[in-house]
Amino acid sequence: MRKIIKSAAAIAAVSAVALTGCGRQDSGSTSSASGAAGTFDKGSLIGVALPQKTSENWVLAEKVFNEDLTKAGYKTDVQFANGGVSEQQNQISSMITKGAKVIIVGAIDGKQLGTQLKQAKDAGITIIAYDRLIEATENVDYYVAFDNFKVGELQGQALLEGLKKKGSGPYNIELLAGSPDDANSKRFFDGAMSVLQPAIDKGEVKIPSGQKEFSQVVTQGWKAENAQKRFDTILSGNYSSAKLDGVLSPNDTLARAVLTSVKSAGKPNPVITGQDSEVESVKLIMKGDQYSTISKDTRALVGQAVTMVNDLQSKGKAVTNDDKSYNNGKKVVPAFLLKPIIVTRENAAEVYKNDATLAPLTK
Ligand code: BGC
Repeated sequence: MRKIIKSAAAIAAVSAVALTGCGRQDSGSTSSASGAAGTFDKGSLIGVALPQKTSENWVLAEKVFNEDLTKAGYKTDVQFANGGVSEQQNQISSMITKGAKVIIVGAIDGKQLGTQLKQAKDAGITIIAYDRLIEATENVDYYVAFDNFKVGELQGQALLEGLKKKGSGPYNIELLAGSPDDANSKRFFDGAMSVLQPAIDKGEVKIPSGQKEFSQVVTQGWKAENAQKRFDTILSGNYSSAKLDGVLSPNDTLARAVLTSVKSAGKPNPVITGQDSEVESVKLIMKGDQYSTISKDTRALVGQAVTMVNDLQSKGKAVTNDDKSYNNGKKVVPAFLLKPIIVTRENAAEVYKNDATLAPLTK
């Protein structure tokens, strides 16, 4: 029986691919979610499983998901999993039991949802990975995110640019990455290293701690206190006489943790990168204490996820614009990627001009 169902899904997938060939649109291609549910009623339940509140973007996502999905006519169940992975697993199971038609997941640990997503698939539910890729399972249908490798590239470029503005090298820098259970962390790091490694190889940039590998520079749980502790140790062990010129930080929360550590060591601020356009970091950028951040408009990302839900509701499939970059170890997950923007003091007013919270900070 299972076999028959599977091959029916395969035929559906093949015909959807065939259709894609003729119906290609400018904004992307339509791709089928193999084995995904067909269309469903507008008033259906949509589940949204968010991770911990490790940055402001997640808090805003909760609000915008509730608003946008309700406005579009759905019932919503939007949950944070501050208690960790097992809480998120339970929340997803409960969304399945309640009859959700689509579950949007911002995973805490992208590799720990296999059992729940198999149950979701068996119940005909479509799974959209939101912001963070879900790994090691076939049962994820779509991915919607900002281009994570590009985020890292922009951070690496900003760091080099900021260092050059400060004077000539060689420069001493330290590296910092996000939580190893979040699939984004390695992508951000790889993107940044694609820019920084050539400068390291040429000797223009040095890493006095010697901590260069992803596994040595990660920050468990994206927690500020973990980054701060690591930098306290790095500074006391390697910078008693050396100057710290720059830090690659994967996001704003961790950038501020590093700046706290630097301050308590009585050192001047290094050129430091960030991500998320958090209020406190935008203030620091305008003061010249943080060099850069990344603008990833949460409203646009949630908006894109809701567009996918609407397409699934009415057509049974969603539009994607990248069907090759996100291999999760079991399949290439069709993705819709949005473009991140680098922000420094120079372009902050322009980038945030339509943001009611951030625009006033840039005046
Ligand atoms: C997001 C970042 C965020 C980090 C910590 C990542 O998955 O892409 O925007 O800073 O999680 O919350």
